[in-house]
Amino acid sequence: MCSPEHFAVEYAINPWMDVTAPVDAELAVKQWDRLRETLVGLGHEVHLLVPEPGLPDMVYAANGAFMVDGTVYGARFKHEQRAAEAATHRAFHESQGWRFIAPNETNEGEGDFAYLPEAHGGLVLAGYGFRTELPAHAEAQEALGRPVVSLRLVDPRFYHLDVALASIDDGNVVYYPGAFSSASQRVLNQLFPDAVLADDEDALAFGLNLVSDGANVVLNSEATRLAGRLKAAGYTPVPVELAELKKGGGSVKCCIAELRY
Ligand code: ARG
Repeated sequence: MCSPEHFAVEYAINPWMDVTAPVDAELAVKQWDRLRETLVGLGHEVHLLVPEPGLPDMVYAANGAFMVDGTVYGARFKHEQRAAEAATHRAFHESQGWRFIAPNETNEGEGDFAYLPEAHGGLVLAGYGFRTELPAHAEAQEALGRPVVSLRLVDPRFYHLDVALASIDDGNVVYYPGAFSSASQRVLNQLFPDAVLADDEDALAFGLNLVSDGANVVLNSEATRLAGRLKAAGYTPVPVELAELKKGGGSVKCCIAELRY
């Protein structure tokens, strides 16, 4: 994770960002800190990146890399404004001694890649259409040695995979069908017949931008119906308020890069 100390909406690279809307960075830090405490309280170890002035989107740490079984596939941001973030993630991963593979193709890390270790023997789901480019999916497959399933995103409000789909345990997902092309919806339905589905209201409240440890699902507090559906499916929803970070176009998952080693 990376503190939103320098968070601001200085440019608009997704439909949620409005450069004229005021942003309260102090409140953003408070809400982000509650998220960090929630994860620690659930027993997770949280590493922190040092936020850098001039990189207002650094708080969305999910976009910096994608890691599977100790191998890290680095990010290459689509927009110039975020390009420098990739090096800070790379330096962190290398300092931990993990195998780092530098990308040649445009991809935004966990923003567009999800990993399900128990689905069909270990599957990577990958989004494209807005940020990550299709050739990066093949590059990730070569880097990580896991089959990558490409899913086409078609609604600009769901510009990353992680605002439309999340793993809720090692083998199942929750998603919002409307974010995907109809063919990709069929693929998801074939791979995950037991998936939990979200409605448009919860999806637009960033409900799918969640993290789950297989039992506890930390999600945006506004996604109330989705919390109910997850509870009915046997999970424990843990709602957190992240209204300020919504102004940059992200929520829970965007703030968290999962370390799988
Ligand atoms: N303002 C950031 C961008 O547009 C938000 C990134 C959200 N991160 C995510 N993993 N979806 O790039």
